[in-house]
Amino acid sequence: HVAIIMDGNGRWAQMRGRPRLMGHHAGARRVREIVEACPDQGVKYLTIFAFSTENWKRTQTEVAGLMKLFRRYIQREARNLLANGVRVRFIGDRVRLDDKLVCLMDELELLTSQNELVHLTVALNYGGRDEVTRATQRLAHDVGTGKLSPADVGDETLPKYLDTYFLPDPDLVIRTSGEARISNFLLWQSAYAEYEFIDTLWPDFTPFVFAKVLSGFKARDRRFGAVQA
Ligand code: IPE
Ligand code: IPE
Ligand code: MG
Repeated sequence: HVAIIMDGNGRWAQMRGRPRLMGHHAGARRVREIVEACPDQGVKYLTIFAFSTENWKRTQTEVAGLMKLFRRYIQREARNLLANGVRVRFIGDRVRLDDKLVCLMDELELLTSQNELVHLTVALNYGGRDEVTRATQRLAHDVGTGKLSPADVGDETLPKYLDTYFLPDPDLVIRTSGEARISNFLLWQSAYAEYEFIDTLWPDFTPFVFAKVLSGFKARDRRFGAVQA
C-alpha cells in the first residue's frame, strides 16, 4: 500500500509564470499514469491526498477551481478507471463538499465496486485529526447506545471506525515537492510506514520516478520494533 501526498502543483505553475490552477490541472493529468503503473510495480493499494481539511484556507478562486477539477476529473476518468480494473473509494468528510461532487463520488464508487486489480483511494477534504475525531464520535455513540462496551475497546477497535476501515496500513508514504512533513495525512495508519520525501514536484512525477522511489523502498529493512535474529 503506497500513499502519496501530491504536493508542488502551485510551485510548478508559478515557475512557468502561470496561475496555480494550471498546476493542479497538470497534476491531475499525472494521476492516470501513476495508477496505471501500479500493477507492474506490485502496488495493490494506492492512496492519494487530493485536498486536505486545511486547504479551505486557500483563495476562493483556487478552492472553487479545485472542486470543479474534481468534478470534471471524475466525469472524464470514470470509464477509463472502470476499464482498467481500478476500484475507487474516497476518504475524508463529505459533509462540507457540494452535493453534485458527492453524488459523482458515490457513483464512481458504485461503478467500480466490482474491480480489484488496483484499489485507488482518494483523500478529499481529508485530515487525519478530523478523521480520528469523527471516528471517536461514532465510537462514543456506540458506547452510549450499549452496542460497544468500554472494556472491549482494544487497538483493533478504532481502525474499524476510521474512514480507512477497508484498507491495510500504508507501507510507504511518498511526499513530492521537497517538504518533509505529513500535513495531517493518515496519522493513525502511518505509525509504521516508511517515508520518502522527494524534491520532484507532483506534475513532474512520472512512472519512471515512481519506479525509482519504489526500488529504494524495497531495499529498506523494516523491523517494526523487533530485533532481527
Ligand atoms: C498540492 O499542490 C495540491 C493541493 C494541495 C490541492 P499545492 O497546491 O500545495 O502546491 P504548492 O505546494 O503550493 O507548490
Ligand atoms: C498537503 O499539501 C495536502 C495535499 C497534498 C492535498 P499542502 O500543500 O496543503 O500542505 P502544507 O500546507 O504545505 O503543509
Ligand atoms: Mg503544497
